[in-house]
Amino acid sequence: MQPSSETTQRSRNHDIAEQAATARASLPEPLENREKNALIDEAKRLLRARDAVLVAHYYVDSDLQELADATGGCVADSLEMARFGLAHQASTVLVAGVRFMGETAKILSPEKQVFLVESAAECSLDLGCPVDMFADFCDQHPDRTVVVYANTSAEVKARADWVVTSSIALNLIQDLSNQGEKIIWAPDRYLGDYVQRQTGADMLLWEGSCIVHEEFKGEVLEQLKQLNPDAKVLVHPESPPSVINLADIVGSTGQLIHAVETMNAPLFIVATEEGILHKMRQRAPGKNFLAAPTAGEGATCESCAHCPWMKMNDLQRLVNVLKSEQNEVVVDEAIRSQAAIPIKRMIDYGQSRST
Ligand code: 13P
Ligand code: SF4
Repeated sequence: MQPSSETTQRSRNHDIAEQAATARASLPEPLENREKNALIDEAKRLLRARDAVLVAHYYVDSDLQELADATGGCVADSLEMARFGLAHQASTVLVAGVRFMGETAKILSPEKQVFLVESAAECSLDLGCPVDMFADFCDQHPDRTVVVYANTSAEVKARADWVVTSSIALNLIQDLSNQGEKIIWAPDRYLGDYVQRQTGADMLLWEGSCIVHEEFKGEVLEQLKQLNPDAKVLVHPESPPSVINLADIVGSTGQLIHAVETMNAPLFIVATEEGILHKMRQRAPGKNFLAAPTAGEGATCESCAHCPWMKMNDLQRLVNVLKSEQNEVVVDEAIRSQAAIPIKRMIDYGQSRST
């Protein structure tokens, strides 16, 4: 276990909860149709004028997802976002997502200008893994290979041997374990626990968690499943083990979308951020979807399957960034070049598995 005391862990969780509450308090109001259409037209014009491409995550608002699709950008999981930004010829990449996604794009494409729609869009996993404490932890276990999830800062990535996303974590850890490597895993303890159970790898886990996925409730999900025996259960591996254990498919956002397209079922219960349902409905129009429960007996639901930071991204902020050129992502060159090594390793590994 990591060397932080319980008190440090509690105070870090308290800070994260406060930051999430601040994000929730600044969420955009819904727009009238007329206002929305004017912003979409303006965004399209500005994206063209700035030679910019919009790269969006599946969790952001459906208007931004549609804008990305309509303008030659992409809507994707975090691995595909990184690949797309790298391969695209546009000189400017605009990221609708959270900070680590903007940093990853900049690390891979230092010659491009990279902007975040919202620079205050954090991630509880990234916030829960401060680089100084993490580096101390790694220093205490020099015999271990350091594998970090993409949901971390550029500085933490620079301390790692490998970066992974949820789409390749299982395969990579299995391969490393087969080669006899012992592993430090950070920051998501539920994903780490899942990978450890599946692979039997020797892993030391950091104690981070996603404030959205940790709220899904296994017991209530079990009841929902019994009420809907035809439903397949799709779970993102940042969820607790009691939820993962009920899944028909465990996977990254991209893998869960692939599942609804290819599985022969009329109904899916989905345990991940609710923004994904937009793309699921587009890709599998004849099928039905239920959000997995986040509340139940004795439970509190703060996030209720809404990531407060992903939801900060909206059309108005996007237009403001394109006009003002604020929110540019800047990464110190020494950190950037070091962090690029494990990220490129991840991309090469992903490509070698898909060929
Ligand atoms: P994916 O890599 O599955 O897109 O996940 C990113 C994320 O932030 C999940 O909460
Ligand atoms: Fe981070 Fe969770 Fe939000 Fe994903 S859903 S960006 S892991 S806080």
